[in-house]
Amino acid sequence: MDLLEGIESRTSALKLREPAPSRVDVERIIKAGTKAPDHGRLRPWRFIVLEGEARKRLGAAMADMLRAKTPDASQAQLDAEAAKPLRAPIIIAVGAAITKGKIPEIEQVAAVAAAIQNMFLAAHALGYGAMWKTGAAAYDRNIKELLGLAAEDHIVGFLYLGSIATAGPSVATPAEIRWL
Ligand SMILES: Cc1cc2nc3c(=O)[nH]c(=O)nc-3n(C[C@H](O)[C@H](O)[C@H](O)COP(=O)(O)O)c2cc1C
Repeated sequence: MDLLEGIESRTSALKLREPAPSRVDVERIIKAGTKAPDHGRLRPWRFIVLEGEARKRLGAAMADMLRAKTPDASQAQLDAEAAKPLRAPIIIAVGAAITKGKIPEIEQVAAVAAAIQNMFLAAHALGYGAMWKTGAAAYDRNIKELLGLAAEDHIVGFLYLGSIATAGPSVATPAEIRWL
């Protein structure tokens, strides 16, 4: 796939299914992430691959988070939260580990966001579907701990990956451009 063609045709999948990307493809997708621009070459990205039962542990932590925040959440709501990570056969949680110093924190997070976009495009080029998720789980201290991240690290995205069950629509994306 031509690079520009890939960028122009990328959309978030609406629904994913098995089979998951192979291990070789997952590693290639992550490698694409590490090709992102990165001010100061700090390599702030951290990749945590969740498959199989690991997704259930993430789901259980997400349900615990919901229970703690919303004590009157119904069992159906807790079950729905726990099931969220099962929407993809593989999830790559992408964290930003911040180095204190002269490179501003926002630039380190920006580098990790660029890494996720590279990964999204690599997955697309390999024929997989992807969805970028955050939500309250991305800001939860216990979930960071489950993933082996420090409390001050950021979860920049959960990249849900799989084969495409339902592709997302391609919508017009107007750009506000000012030429000075
Ligand atoms: C930082 C960030 C966080 C996102 N979090 C979510 C999310 O929690 N749930 C979700 O459905 N989509 C999330 N998205 C994906 C966007 O909603 C999605 O890209 C958007 O709907 C545009 O669709 P497209 O990717 O098909 O162009 C996130 C995207 C970014 C960049």
